[in-house]
Amino acid sequence: MILNKDFLWGGAISANQSEGCYLDYGKGLSQFDNLPLNENRLKEVFLDKDNILNEKDQYYPSHIGNKFYENYKEDIAKLAELGFKCFRFSISWPRIFPTGEEHEPNIKGLEFYDNIIKELKKHNIEPLITISHFDMPFYLVENYGGWADRRVVDLYLKYSETIMRRYKDDVKYWIPFNEMNMIMHIPYIGGGLTFKSNENRLQKKYQATHHQLLANALTVKIGKEINKNFKFGCMLAAGKTYAYTCKPEDVFAALEHEKHNLFFSDVQVRGEYPRYVKHYFKENNIDLIVEENDFEILKSNTVDFVSFSYYSSACSAAKDEGLEKSQANGAETIRNPYLPKSNSVWQNDPLGLRITMNQLYDRYQLPLFIVENGLGTQDKLSEVGTIEDDYRIDYMREHIKNMMLAVKEDGIELVGYIMWGCIDLTSVSDGRMSKRYGVIYVDSDDYGNGSFKRIIKKSGYWYKTVIESNGEILFKGL
Ligand code: BG6
Repeated sequence: MILNKDFLWGGAISANQSEGCYLDYGKGLSQFDNLPLNENRLKEVFLDKDNILNEKDQYYPSHIGNKFYENYKEDIAKLAELGFKCFRFSISWPRIFPTGEEHEPNIKGLEFYDNIIKELKKHNIEPLITISHFDMPFYLVENYGGWADRRVVDLYLKYSETIMRRYKDDVKYWIPFNEMNMIMHIPYIGGGLTFKSNENRLQKKYQATHHQLLANALTVKIGKEINKNFKFGCMLAAGKTYAYTCKPEDVFAALEHEKHNLFFSDVQVRGEYPRYVKHYFKENNIDLIVEENDFEILKSNTVDFVSFSYYSSACSAAKDEGLEKSQANGAETIRNPYLPKSNSVWQNDPLGLRITMNQLYDRYQLPLFIVENGLGTQDKLSEVGTIEDDYRIDYMREHIKNMMLAVKEDGIELVGYIMWGCIDLTSVSDGRMSKRYGVIYVDSDDYGNGSFKRIIKKSGYWYKTVIESNGEILFKGL
């Protein structure tokens, strides 16, 4: 047996991409609820010009999601039918504290998550909770400027402590922040940040990051006091950066690119700001406002495992003018000429997963946890009502095989494999439902029209056989 018998196979969703009912049952507006379905979604938000928020006559995907709020029971039953061992979902902060400032939580919001956890337990599925997945009360964006304001740390801790106390006997695995490093690319989504045209944007992004790092460390501290068996993970949007050529200048460019990505997990795992970042701050006029105990807090409250998302690798060169570009998890990169073109906008690189796992394990020597991986592409409902998504099976098979080789041959400790968007949901980058990741199909178009009926795809039945055999079937010529 390559993987431990308690290996956590599963899938993930987030609240803002799935739940819908965006203002029902006492929920407050999230910053994500103001993102329309159009090409401006990922742009930095400048309040003094091109303010893309809350435009009239636009469709807002999170308002409906995939209707998980109404369908959670049926959805969890379907996950159980597929043999899922683990389900990663996020709690919506504004569903619990609508503005962030309330002293008492919204009980109706908590009851919704009580029910989810109850259903999961009924089916023996391990919950994995993301405390903040691109989701904060919009009130805090408007009145505090998002994570740039240090007071948000305490408001977040009130929220994280509330849910950790409530689920102290039901939940073991916690991820305080989804993909913290994304704040550099999508600062509104990652940190509720808005800018004025003339401000030092890097300063603001790193200040907000410092606050998130503190909130992460203090959540670990409070969590361990609540239940010493809690396990916490950082969550990195990962993916090895290759050098475009073996020219030392290109290799150096790749190294630089990677360092800035790994900075976030470096602090969460090692508990201190690396030297390279201090130097970078100096060079870029970034002067963080910190308090005396901050570094001690970071040092004493590091994470237990390294969770990460992996969709594709990236590629860097010293000079990239004239080179064809591609996307790697929302960020622009150079197209890697050695990777075949695929039906996804992101380049597929299954061996890159094994390389990334080696890199993270060598760097941190902590158990890894793949908490997102998958193929986002269009599916077609056949005339007889099936989805024959062989391309997704190919993608998952190759990635899972490489993951298992990393365990078997490279000696990497791995807690689990959680595929992304197991139930089709609305995409972050373009807001569309038609960029589907799921092994369970949701009958809805990009504008929330449809029956929202759930159908298990061919990939779902295939994944079931993989889970049942603990992955062994992939090495027996399936
Ligand atoms: C990750 C996020 O960055 O990528 C998810 O954690 C997101 O929330 C996923 O959905 C895929 O990205 P996209 O843009 O295709 O939805």
